[in-house]
Amino acid sequence: MCGIVGYIGKTKAVDFVVDGLQSLEYRGYDSAGVSTIIDGQAVTTKQVGRVDALRVELESLSINKTAVAVGHTRWATHGIPSVNNAHPHFNSDKTIFVVHNGIIENYQELRTMLQSKGYSFVSETDTEVIPHLIDLNLKTEKSFQKAFEKTIEELDGAYAISALHVSEPDSLYVARLSSPLVIGVGDGEHFLASDATAIMDRTKKVIYLDDYEVAHITPDGLKIHNIRDAVQVQKEAELLDYDAEKAALGDYPNFMLKEIHEAPQTIQSAIRGRIKPEANTVKLGGLDNVMEQLQFIDRIVIVACGTSYYAGLVGEYLIEEIAGIPVEVQLASEFKYRNEPFSRSTALLAISQSGETADTIAALKKVESYGVLRLGIVNAVGSTIARMTDAGVYCHAGPEQSVASTKAFIAQVTVLTEIALNLSEGRTPLYKPLMKELQALPDKVKQIFESDGDIEKLAHKYKDYVDFLFIGRKYGYPCALEGALKLKEISYIHAEGYSAGEMKHGPLAMIDKQFPTFAIATDGELLEKTVSNIEEIRARKGKVVAIATQGNKSVAKVAGDVIYIPETLEQTQPLLIAIVMQLFSYHVAMAKGHNVDRPRNLAKSVTVE
Ligand code: G6P
Repeated sequence: MCGIVGYIGKTKAVDFVVDGLQSLEYRGYDSAGVSTIIDGQAVTTKQVGRVDALRVELESLSINKTAVAVGHTRWATHGIPSVNNAHPHFNSDKTIFVVHNGIIENYQELRTMLQSKGYSFVSETDTEVIPHLIDLNLKTEKSFQKAFEKTIEELDGAYAISALHVSEPDSLYVARLSSPLVIGVGDGEHFLASDATAIMDRTKKVIYLDDYEVAHITPDGLKIHNIRDAVQVQKEAELLDYDAEKAALGDYPNFMLKEIHEAPQTIQSAIRGRIKPEANTVKLGGLDNVMEQLQFIDRIVIVACGTSYYAGLVGEYLIEEIAGIPVEVQLASEFKYRNEPFSRSTALLAISQSGETADTIAALKKVESYGVLRLGIVNAVGSTIARMTDAGVYCHAGPEQSVASTKAFIAQVTVLTEIALNLSEGRTPLYKPLMKELQALPDKVKQIFESDGDIEKLAHKYKDYVDFLFIGRKYGYPCALEGALKLKEISYIHAEGYSAGEMKHGPLAMIDKQFPTFAIATDGELLEKTVSNIEEIRARKGKVVAIATQGNKSVAKVAGDVIYIPETLEQTQPLLIAIVMQLFSYHVAMAKGHNVDRPRNLAKSVTVE
């Protein structure tokens, strides 16, 4: 959470930083700020709210020639969104400026120590200890670099930090531990950002900082020092190996709707070159180098958070049914603190859209010394998880901007289906039919878009309820969990996802005419059982919106409202069900007047615990 952008070079540093912050707003949007040096004087501007507000203020200052700047967009952890709590933070003399992403766990202790030495604080943040600590260390260290490094060594927690010193306008200092930071290499200029999307317009040459690395960046060069191992590190710039287009809204009113509508091409991109029904193969290039090791895997533990976790649950059903390998799915935040037996023949599979989620990274780190295979399903190319796993499959869904994940879920489930097929080595009777069906899905998704008007009408009908239950069985069960998450994330309606089979074990007690249910009742071996659940709900005056398969007659007889999806295999139903639920939540949230792309209190990339 929080986005960092920096620039050092020729000119227009502030313009670059503000544009970069805008593209990192998905990481946080409580407040934004920028510091620069003009003619030896530091200038800092901060605004509560979106980057647009900062841009307007900066325009009024007519800042033209700036060769260095650091900026930040914040997701509040310590202290409310306010100008004082916004970054950059500075020392009392306003000579040192710091932006930070992450959490300084020992900040209370440091703050007390600094206060005892006469330092006073203007914010409630953990970050503000950093400029003061650098200031203190400057009194004993020979250079700013040494004072910066000493400060970094004194911090506990997770961080990406960049600092500016007014007397060194040709230097930018950065450090990283468990928070992403990428340096773009230009011609006589360097760019800095929490993720490559903020710099890829200007350069494709990038250097990723690793944990414990501190870099001193000047317009023409950079020196990296690993402070844990006390060694200088030489790194060659890597070429960003994708032509990532910056997400642009086009004619859509917001990114969420645009990204939902990208589902057909998302599926297409996830299967392109991988699914080959003519040759009867499912080829995943990203797993090539571990194919041999995969033969010895007898269990897979999937770790993920949020929507990626629910994609993982769909993956559990898929891999077990198709490849016959036992799968366990764990929330990364639980997995990392759990003491469980873990054999060498278990592979850990991390699923993450951003590739930067702190808990998922921590789960991968936990098994670092176990000698187990670490795999990834990641969307963001070059992200931390993509780089720390032994092998993996990219989603190729393109940048996802809206906080609530939509097309990434579609891509993750598609990739999981491919992994299941690949691991089955063709031994499942579903091999060919599934390959064929994956190819047919983009058109089926388009058919759902044709009924969007009906989904919108239903959303308007149900928008004022304050509670919602989502139920499903088998593949529909993780879909119910994801549907409930989607609704609560953007409409703020309380929603719970349950297995339909659990209704009599508790949830049925909540049902009355004020507590509607969204029932996933698509064709499959358990449909009759779900229909019975719907009847039981209706018998208690509960309203039901159901998703059923086109051509089905039984569901409409019991459910009050029905949305139909095209006929598909049970294993691919989640991909179609998800689209309906995404559209339903979207329309409810829009009808309630919410900002669907930037829901309150959330951020797209959760880079702190
Ligand atoms: C946040 C986002 C969710 C996302 C989750 C996991 O909560 O708002 O949309 O599913 O993080 O993120 P990841 O990038 O690891 O998939």
